[in-house]
Amino acid sequence: MELGIKNKIALVTGSSRGIGKSCALSLAKEKVKVVICGRNQNTLNNTLDEIKVFSPQSIAIKSDITNISSLSSLTEEITNKLGPIEILVNNVGGSVKREGVEGTEIKDLNKAFELNIDPTLKLMQLVIPKMKSNNWGRIINISSVYGRELGGNLSYMTAKAALNSITKHAAVDLAKYGVLINAVAPGPVAHPGGGWEKFQNENKKDIVDQFIKENLPIGKFGWPEPVGDLVTFLASQNSGFLTGTCINIDGGWSRSIN
Ligand SMILES: NC(=O)c1ccc[n+]([C@@H]2O[C@H](COP(=O)([O-])OP(=O)(O)OC[C@H]3O[C@@H](n4cnc5c(N)ncnc54)[C@H](OP(=O)(O)O)[C@@H]3O)[C@@H](O)[C@H]2O)c1
Repeated sequence: MELGIKNKIALVTGSSRGIGKSCALSLAKEKVKVVICGRNQNTLNNTLDEIKVFSPQSIAIKSDITNISSLSSLTEEITNKLGPIEILVNNVGGSVKREGVEGTEIKDLNKAFELNIDPTLKLMQLVIPKMKSNNWGRIINISSVYGRELGGNLSYMTAKAALNSITKHAAVDLAKYGVLINAVAPGPVAHPGGGWEKFQNENKKDIVDQFIKENLPIGKFGWPEPVGDLVTFLASQNSGFLTGTCINIDGGWSRSIN
């Protein structure tokens, strides 16, 4: 399938490992010029080498996305080096405290928002004006099945549900400008250094097998590449009628029909 995004410019946050890396690699395979970022320079360098095989003009910028005041210089640097961001993948996110209603303090909820929401909203605000004036843009926010139905800890579930709300609200505002905004909600995706790999390494095989049997109809944990390819489709010309939606990619893990 010709996806029609050759030479577009994409920023993928948190893209030296895991799901973000798979998004960056998949976009690079479509000849998108990809900007990867993360906090560890060595991991970034290694990932950039892999990405450049497919898209030689891609670059890596070491940055902590939760440092909100640095984000306008990040987008300026990308504009100066490659041009304005046309595809934004907001991938940085995660859990900060594994507690329920009684164990979650307001500061824990704020921290979950500082990681999952604040950088996403700020980056959207920074890239949208140029996307609007170009009449073309794609924003994909990496949510979670736990932002759509009960699961995980309270602050993570709340933050990812908020992310889905931001996605919907912004998508409706911007559809008329050719700026399409969607979310992707993965189920458990195992990758080196990630939480689900740790779960498999730290538990006996029969416990892991039982977990898979009870929770994953597909019979195994997820892996990052299908998420990257779904994101690339959403970033493409071919996703033209898709906006304001959240797509589960979870091997049948979720229980909701909505
Ligand atoms: N894995 C899953 O099963 C799963 C399921 C549902 C949803 N999700 C969502 O998918 C997204 C990615 O998950 P993942 O498991 O692939 O992530 P991860 O292992 O937590 O993070 C991977 C990437 O993000 C970078 N990163 C982390 N914090 C950063 C920061 N403050 N600034 C810049 N880069 C940062 C890491 O590099 P450095 O450490 O070098 O900065 C690395 O490149 C998250 O939003 C998560 O909530 C994941």
